[in-house]
Amino acid sequence: MLDLVVRGANLPDGRNGYDIGVIGGKIVEIAPQLAAPAAREIDARGRLVTPPFVDSHFHMDATLSVGRPRFNESGTLLEGIAIWAEQKPLLTAEDVRERALELCRWAIARGNLAIRTHVDICDDRLLAVDALLDVRETMAPYIDLQLVAFPQDGFLRDASARVNLLRALDRGVDVVGGIPHFERTMADGAASVRELCEIAAKRGLLVDMHCDETDDPLSRHVETLAAETMRLGLHGRVTGSHLTSMHSMDNYYVSKLLPLMLEAGVHAVANPLINIVIQGRHDTYPKRRGMTRVSEMAAIGINVSFGHDCVMDPWYSLGSHDMLEVAHMAVHVGQLTGREEMRGAFMSVTANGARTLGLAGYGLEVGKNADLVVLQAADPIEAIRLRANRLCVIRRGNVIAESPAVESQIFIGDRARRVDFGAGAQS
Ligand code: FE2
Repeated sequence: MLDLVVRGANLPDGRNGYDIGVIGGKIVEIAPQLAAPAAREIDARGRLVTPPFVDSHFHMDATLSVGRPRFNESGTLLEGIAIWAEQKPLLTAEDVRERALELCRWAIARGNLAIRTHVDICDDRLLAVDALLDVRETMAPYIDLQLVAFPQDGFLRDASARVNLLRALDRGVDVVGGIPHFERTMADGAASVRELCEIAAKRGLLVDMHCDETDDPLSRHVETLAAETMRLGLHGRVTGSHLTSMHSMDNYYVSKLLPLMLEAGVHAVANPLINIVIQGRHDTYPKRRGMTRVSEMAAIGINVSFGHDCVMDPWYSLGSHDMLEVAHMAVHVGQLTGREEMRGAFMSVTANGARTLGLAGYGLEVGKNADLVVLQAADPIEAIRLRANRLCVIRRGNVIAESPAVESQIFIGDRARRVDFGAGAQS
């Protein structure tokens, strides 16, 4: 007797019409037409069933605070950082907690069951750290939160950042962050990368740095990040986030850089919604797009995942924590319109993200966690095209979110017709 069976699913790898059997929160069987009875059945015929979406890069301490204390009128990264600095002294732990919990509810409804969130440690009170540690524990049955100790004002530039970062790690923050391009000099940026990687190596932690979030082609801290990863034996445990300077780098230099990143096993995270809004702000015309070289990195085997980065905060006033919106934007900004490239974009908001975070038990395989999302779409490309409705979100075999199928009735001529965009329109 199964606890749950999901019937007739289309799988992300292209297999169609499979049943997924669940016992004790784990996937126990994937096959066409499972005969075993089940306590609960979900009809997913013709629908894509995927492991959950993963957001590889987010800022939960700032989310849902747009307009406090003012709006970002220039739209630049630096005005966003200035507004956040004005807001920080006004934060309370309860405020951070409530906004983060609301964002988690949005994420669950969207089928995003894992988020790596940076938390600013440049506040001697560390109240956002404490609030998000509390949210991580409260929401653990429903969503995996991974926290990054993020020195927003610069690890070396801010006088108390070093002490506060170590305090945050002592309290249980999972990952060491950094922002080398925001240090005072290139030399300071490189020094910050070295010291932060050493801290991670000493404590056995992961690393995820905001790295080269600039249009300056000479901002090359990712090179130091990859070299330090190799020097300290951190292979596979380090992530470079944003990497937007790579968009503007010299092609010859990049032809040397990418193999170095691959050799070091550095994961790359692009944040398409934010990159297209923030980058190129100093350009007149033509304006650079700024997103990092997604298809070139993927082509040589670097693990590339996507983050939402911001939802309604000082840097970005839009969004609803929809990772399919992120993938949709990536396809457009990166001109990833080839069939394999679009399927790759879907992987960048699912399995690749799980690899970046190092999630255990993730995946649509026997023995993995029964964490599944049923989409109102037939396949990954249609899911991106429609930013498809999440019909059902399952965590450890339990349904934790449901949405009715979206359809319209249209009245043309003498009869009503039903339109279901996600019914498998040859994508
Ligand atoms: Fe970020």
